[in-house]
Amino acid sequence: MNNNAEILLKVENLKMHFPIYRGIFQRQVGAVHAVDGVDFEVYRGETLGLVGESGCGKSTTGRAILQLYKPTEGQVHFEGVDLVKLRGEEMRKMRRKMQMVFQDPYASLNPRMTVEQIVSEPLVVHNVLSGKELQERVKELLELVGLNPAFATRYPHEFSGGQRQRVGVARAIALNPSFIICDEPISALDVSIQAQVVNLLEELQEKFNLTYLFIAHDLSMVRHISKRVAVMYLGVVMELAPRDELYDHPLHPYTQALLSAVPIPDPVADAERSRTILEGDVPSPVNPPSGCRFRTRCPIAQEICAQERPVFREMKPGHFVACHFAEKFM
Ligand SMILES: Nc1ncnc2c1ncn2[C@@H]1O[C@H](COP(=O)(O)OP(=O)(O)OP(=O)(O)O)[C@@H](O)[C@H]1O
Ligand code: SF4
Ligand SMILES: [Mg+2]
Repeated sequence: MNNNAEILLKVENLKMHFPIYRGIFQRQVGAVHAVDGVDFEVYRGETLGLVGESGCGKSTTGRAILQLYKPTEGQVHFEGVDLVKLRGEEMRKMRRKMQMVFQDPYASLNPRMTVEQIVSEPLVVHNVLSGKELQERVKELLELVGLNPAFATRYPHEFSGGQRQRVGVARAIALNPSFIICDEPISALDVSIQAQVVNLLEELQEKFNLTYLFIAHDLSMVRHISKRVAVMYLGVVMELAPRDELYDHPLHPYTQALLSAVPIPDPVADAERSRTILEGDVPSPVNPPSGCRFRTRCPIAQEICAQERPVFREMKPGHFVACHFAEKFM
């Protein structure tokens, strides 16, 4: 699959370590290994779901891709250009093509700005439009996300959660980007509203051939929207596969555990299937386990798992797994 698809984004060995300083001399005593060697590609026009428990490094991966953090190591190729090497004006131009939609539309929208100001800000900052044209564009953007342009003079608090997220989406598409990182865009919304926002994102994707990296903390949230799904644990991608392949034939014990926690509608099948219960907490990213990051919670861990970090390898076409014993589940 994807033989003919164009690679829009290629992330290679991406690492983001946050230094920890202590004492009066502020000596570096360690680092949070938030993202620790991540590789994946995103094809133009697709949605790649990125899933993992809280604190596993999803948002940091997103921010390091957009160069909001300078990666500690690794490369981020966007349309063939390594973003890590870009500076100044070149980066500014690239940045227009990549946007982010955040989890909490209230915290991410300035409460003292009207919707019109919020949506027009990127267009003003990048000197794209002004005056009447700017006003027209804002009107058009609000219509695109299903908001009444007559509300342009209102403030974020006058909207519902779902409407506020629409404002966030309008702002994200204002500069005609090709790539949007949706960082848990529906997690804070009522279940009844979630589907509407997902539908809107899908509509816009089709209309403008947008590419999404869609971040969520649970597998059920990305199933509908994703073409492929990547599962992250403690700063590392453990498994990546086409959507149905991942849900039907997970090869990594961590993915299997996450999936067995997702209820299935048929109560008989639900009672009969085997369950892997995840025990214990996620270890600290300051001092992650040696070898395989998942070994402290893995039901099938062996000695080698503590000694060698499993290679992220392609077990079937497009299906990548980082586990020494992935063959077991083939
Ligand atoms: N600026 C920072 N400085 C230091 N540590 C950070 C920073 N940002 C994130 N971290 C740490 O890096 C790790 C990964 O955080 P990140 O926010 O990327 O996780 P996440 O997967 O997005 O979690 P969530 O589902 O809660 O949003 C966490 O341990 C977090 O505390
Ligand atoms: S490498 Fe070892 S510890 Fe890691 S998931 Fe595979 S079996 Fe479990
Ligand atoms: Mg996050």
